[in-house]
Amino acid sequence: AAPDYSPAVVVGTGYGAAVTALRLGAAGIPTLMLEMGQLWNTPAADGKIFPDMLNPDRRSMWFKNRTEAPLASFLWLDAANRNIDRYAGVLDRVHFGEMSVYVGRGVGGGSLVNGAMAVTPKRWYFEEILPEVDADEMYGRYYPLANSMLGTNSIDPAWFETCDSYQFARVSRKHAQKAGLTTTFVPSVYDFGYMRREEAGEVPRSALASEVIYGNNHGKRSLDKSYLAAALGTGNVTIQTLTEVRDIAQQQDGTYTLTVRQIDAAGNVLGVRQLGAKYLFLGAGSLGSTELLVRARDTGKLPDLGEEVGRGWGTNGNVMLGRANHVWDPVGAVESGMPAMGIDAWDDPVHPVFAEIAPVPAGLETWASLYLAITKNPERGYFAYDPGADRAVLRWDVAQGQPSIDAAKSLFDKINAANGTIYRYDLFGDTRAFENRFTYHPLGGLVLGKATDLYGRVKGYRNLYVTDGSLIPGSTGVNPFVTITALAERNIARVLAEDF
Ligand code: FDA
Repeated sequence: AAPDYSPAVVVGTGYGAAVTALRLGAAGIPTLMLEMGQLWNTPAADGKIFPDMLNPDRRSMWFKNRTEAPLASFLWLDAANRNIDRYAGVLDRVHFGEMSVYVGRGVGGGSLVNGAMAVTPKRWYFEEILPEVDADEMYGRYYPLANSMLGTNSIDPAWFETCDSYQFARVSRKHAQKAGLTTTFVPSVYDFGYMRREEAGEVPRSALASEVIYGNNHGKRSLDKSYLAAALGTGNVTIQTLTEVRDIAQQQDGTYTLTVRQIDAAGNVLGVRQLGAKYLFLGAGSLGSTELLVRARDTGKLPDLGEEVGRGWGTNGNVMLGRANHVWDPVGAVESGMPAMGIDAWDDPVHPVFAEIAPVPAGLETWASLYLAITKNPERGYFAYDPGADRAVLRWDVAQGQPSIDAAKSLFDKINAANGTIYRYDLFGDTRAFENRFTYHPLGGLVLGKATDLYGRVKGYRNLYVTDGSLIPGSTGVNPFVTITALAERNIARVLAEDF
């Protein structure tokens, strides 16, 4: 049975939450983690924990009737998606009008479903987005710590040049170079040694078997294998799954009371109960943590929360696009699901872009090159409380996505011109070439130094903290999880030293 009171509670089990729980547990503080998703450690009837992208099933998505893959179509056919049973699956796509946000659900949060790209931003850009954070300390100490704890590794460049799995990346590199652009290897928390053995036929395939956004059965060092395993290893950390935090209130004595809803994997509500905590850490992600505090403020449960709660949200400038290749430029039938290379045009003075060369793990030749471009979009959205739905609703209109498209178009127009190629117009459900109506990288909502102090302490409330991507003001210039992890390490070190 669950304890009714815990000295420390951490909401969520993603990057910020996992770092925080490990450091609390290592300091001897009994810590309870509450995660709305499942623990993914048990094979289903097919012998696998996760399904691949070509054969999605109920495990793929969080209570949906149909899968919602980012490539909605191929040759305008709805080829990727399937009808499924509603279930506590691993990937969610949360819709807010013109914007939808992909998030992971389960023990490990986004680490279960993401592309494993472990990228440290350029220092000058970090200093631009978080000028009040000591960059010496981040680049000297916390980024290296985060990368080593996460298990970041780099591809063997010689293997990259010869393997089948990255032919698609080599083709994109050639096209970028023809336009005078620079490419760079992208570090990963997917074990490249394992991937090499996959290609050699020595081990079961995962990255080479179209496994990514619905989970990886092998090869990926998701948080359950790194930070969370270490946290549990302290003996002081407990994880409760299928437990969603709904409300936060504060008692007279300053402790917090959480209202939590327990469900089963089919979605039946098993009960609603209250839990007490002295120290409360929000690691439910940009959407989850921001919603909890917007709701608490606007229902009067935490009335001293300020105006900055819910503000400063961005997409990390995400925009996806495809290019059509010439028949003499095949990308290969086997594409590793884990990207390993990007086009680095972040120093462009007008349109900074860092474009991941993304796979289309379709298991057949696609004649397409796909990219997830990260751009410097200055637009920010905000969250408003909708009392009818008891939900925090993201306000972001379609025009706010235009700077992302403008930047990506300026880069890829050059690549197309240099190679005599065109965009693909058949990938996103209609005839658009650029898809900016979703993001993989939700950031902000509880920005560091604005909704919180410079270490994630929520303004107006003692012993209440934010640890996750909601601290970051909408942009990191690269894929965000290493930055979320490093910042969480920095913040909890200070909080443990000063507040306990
Ligand atoms: P994160 O979202 O990881 O975790 C939050 C957790 O809290 C979830 O498990 C959620 O279920 C839980 N939760 C939410 N609300 C709750 C509540 N009320 N009660 C209880 N639990 C609750 N980044 C990168 O750096 N490299 C990459 O290659 C990619 N690729 C990528 C692909 C895809 C498909 C996605 C969806 C995302 C990526 N990302 C990525 C983004 C990256 O995964 C993301 O930035 C981090 O997971 C965010 O970490 P957080 O700690 O903010 O929360």
